[in-house]
Amino acid sequence: MRKDSPMRVILVAVALCLVCSVLVSAAAVVLRPEQELNKALDKKKNILLAAGLIEPKGEADIDAVYTERVEARLVDLETGEYTDAFPVDAFDQRDAAKDPAQSIEIPDKEDPAGIGRRSLYAPVYLVRESPGSNEFSGVIIPVHGKGLWSTLYGFLALDSDLNTIEGLGFYEHAETPGLGGEVDNPNWKAQWKGKQVYEDGKVEISVIKGKVNPNSPDKAYEIDGIAGATITARGVSNLVQYWMGSGAFQTYITRVREQGLS
Ligand SMILES: Cc1cc2nc3c(=O)[nH]c(=O)nc-3n(C[C@H](O)[C@H](O)[C@H](O)COP(=O)(O)O)c2cc1C
Repeated sequence: MRKDSPMRVILVAVALCLVCSVLVSAAAVVLRPEQELNKALDKKKNILLAAGLIEPKGEADIDAVYTERVEARLVDLETGEYTDAFPVDAFDQRDAAKDPAQSIEIPDKEDPAGIGRRSLYAPVYLVRESPGSNEFSGVIIPVHGKGLWSTLYGFLALDSDLNTIEGLGFYEHAETPGLGGEVDNPNWKAQWKGKQVYEDGKVEISVIKGKVNPNSPDKAYEIDGIAGATITARGVSNLVQYWMGSGAFQTYITRVREQGLS
């Protein structure tokens, strides 16, 4: 066959495609366990960051701090009780929300987070008072909801009074860097620490438009808006209100206030 014959060109192209596809597939298969491990580690890191148990730029051993300071439990959102219906470490809230047998539809008027469905169960992460202790000083709750371009996924950490916020952080979203992406700005996130969620059993925390007035009687419940990103900011406000509200974690929170976290 001539070097520049059309058949030879096609054969070389096909052979090249085959070799490349085998290489890419092999890489995907070989790297999958490592990707899963990294994903799990990233989740643990974000749980610890929300609770202020590690520094954003620190070099802590994530697995060690997580094992010492965090205990994951699965909550039945209907009753607010812990459940062993599924092993919590294997429970995937996103998959469960897609399964009609493991989730409920949220009526539009009760769905400020814009998520459509939520799983019947949700994990929570209890914060041990000290390494290995069985006394708990707070709880970290997974939250998610719609921003402008994407669903934001994050964790909200509450102190032992189940009302004071320790921190909020998102580990996944596709909002615009510099606009909605400012939800990741450490200065904006720092405002959440110490704010209150409930007043007389009603969810009052909200991200307002503009800056919080230091003389406002509601300042304990208010977070500065994000300039040029009102839609993302409102999305964050709505999703926090939804997950703290009676449609999601409020039954659990009311129960553990009376009975304790463990
Ligand atoms: C390219 C582009 C990206 C934008 N990204 C965001 C975003 O991530 N979040 C957001 O709330 N608004 C974003 N906006 C702005 C919104 O369209 C809207 O104008 C804004 O949320 C209104 O906020 P403001 O009242 O503070 O100006 C973007 C606008 C443009 C043109």
